[in-house]
Amino acid sequence: CGIVGYLGTQEACDILVKGLQRLEYRGYDSAGIALMNGEALNIYKIKGKVSGLEELIQGKDISGGLGIGHTRWATHGGPSDVNAHPHYSSDGKLAMVHNGIIENYGSLKQELLNKGHEFESETDTEVFLHFIEQIQKDNNCELIEAVRIALTEVVGAYAIALISKDDPNQLIAARKGSPLVIGIGEDKKEFFIASDATPIIEYTKDVVYINDEEIALIKEGELTIIDVKNTPQTPYIHTLEMELEAIEKGGYEHFMMKEIMEQPKSVADCLRGRVIAEQSHVKLGGIHHHMEDLMNANRIVIIACGTSWHAGLVAEYIFEEVARIPVEVEYASEFRYRNPIIGKGDVVIAISQSGETADTLAAIEIAQKNGATVLGVCNVVGSSIARVSDEGAYTHAGPEIGVASTKAFTAQLTVLTTMALMVAKEKKMLSDVNLQKLLFELEQVPQKIEETLKLDEEIKVISALYKDATNFLYLGRGYNFPVALEGALKLKEISYIHAEGYPAAEMKHGPIALIDEEMPVVFIATKDSSYDKVVSNIQEVKARKGRVIAIVTKGDVLIPKMVDHVIEVPDVHEILMPMISVVPLQLLSYYIAVMRGCNVDQPRNLAKSVTVE
Ligand code: G6P
Repeated sequence: CGIVGYLGTQEACDILVKGLQRLEYRGYDSAGIALMNGEALNIYKIKGKVSGLEELIQGKDISGGLGIGHTRWATHGGPSDVNAHPHYSSDGKLAMVHNGIIENYGSLKQELLNKGHEFESETDTEVFLHFIEQIQKDNNCELIEAVRIALTEVVGAYAIALISKDDPNQLIAARKGSPLVIGIGEDKKEFFIASDATPIIEYTKDVVYINDEEIALIKEGELTIIDVKNTPQTPYIHTLEMELEAIEKGGYEHFMMKEIMEQPKSVADCLRGRVIAEQSHVKLGGIHHHMEDLMNANRIVIIACGTSWHAGLVAEYIFEEVARIPVEVEYASEFRYRNPIIGKGDVVIAISQSGETADTLAAIEIAQKNGATVLGVCNVVGSSIARVSDEGAYTHAGPEIGVASTKAFTAQLTVLTTMALMVAKEKKMLSDVNLQKLLFELEQVPQKIEETLKLDEEIKVISALYKDATNFLYLGRGYNFPVALEGALKLKEISYIHAEGYPAAEMKHGPIALIDEEMPVVFIATKDSSYDKVVSNIQEVKARKGRVIAIVTKGDVLIPKMVDHVIEVPDVHEILMPMISVVPLQLLSYYIAVMRGCNVDQPRNLAKSVTVE
């Protein structure tokens, strides 16, 4: 979910709605705003997208310089008008928006029902707000004190913003486990609240990141922060470096296409200053104090979810190959709940685009508690994972808005490859000549992605032929096996076509049963150490009349004779190939989804930043 808030001299409504549009990638089941105009509190909310909310408020009273807003990804209670945020307190004086889950809401609700509260919605948020209301009544205290007491009793994760009719010039916000940023306008004439900085940057670059268990009070041109124990905190003002263009579509029809096309630049940005092949220089400045831990690690455990997990799988192969350190790759959600064996001597690499994924954060906590060193690989600067990690390296891909991850993936691969080569260099696992050769190739990746992007039209033609398929299989071996998983994930995420990624050889143990003349099979079959084996697998599919689309290395003469379609990508060392070979798969899924009329940037049911477990 995404939350926004505004208190200042301008009309809040426009700022809130625009902010919600910027945050819509975080969830888009329903949207709503609450506006305070003097003593009048107006709430407008609706199932569906922010565009629906815009229609709803046409002709309504939308005045007021204080307000909060929300765009939802449903957890408790399906998407509906009543379950949409903001919610009211029972006396109608308070309105609140919430991102996260309150785990003990069942017992709190029972207590409140016993005290006569009635609930309109099925949400945990409404319970949370009524709980605050009840505390304020019982203690006859200020709202902020009621919020503080409530926060010591709720279990779970939250970022909240609330306003009260009793204090029409006050905005309160708090967080634990869900992100929250406050923007401070010029001369403190206005304040902005948001789940991330994107709704704020067009108004101000001065922001304060709220920490877990902190409560912010904005009143009379001042921002005051206390923690849940009532200790005052000093707000630390960061200056945002992000530019407004970075979060706009820049002439593309969709963010996803813009982000695919940005990859030559994002990979180059990610390498800048870190790799200088001519000098055999390879260094991630963010990993310094823990470099020894990494070099001498008994084991590296990579923890991530979704696309980031796929980047982790590629990294496993690269680290084991060049640095000879054993690597395990774990789904954060599995790792955290199974009493994992982890401790001193282990190095955890946590990969996360958003830096906010709840499962990944919780897994990090467990690893740190057991004495492991945690290195974060995040895209969002200042995000929770970036902050809790012992050290780390940013991917510097710039804001990724399309829900299906593209440029963040290639940037993650860039950082992880750089990290593996840095360790290999320090451990002297590679000869100087081989190291330098790899670094030269790594430097050329942006240009090779650029070349690959020129296949755009060709891929569009292939997409048109297969857009009505109901199933797809993606196969690859070695470094291209995770690419097969990622290709399948991209397609199913945005086109809703069922797709499976598999190690090409493992296909014989199951998916081969699915193959007939209707079944498109995408092989990632570039020239690498498993090439000959993949060729055999292609033959196995062709023998069963499957339709094969093959991603091959430019100049390959063998595979084109065997398959239905080839997509030729530039040659590169095999450990770097995933950064290239994934690009045609991103384009394939993009075009198929567009041709099927799907909402590419905001696919149904998904959210970009999953701050619930
Ligand atoms: C969601 C997103 C995916 C992403 C995954 C992990 O499912 O839709 O694109 O790969 O979360 O997110 P993270 O921010 O931790 O990389």
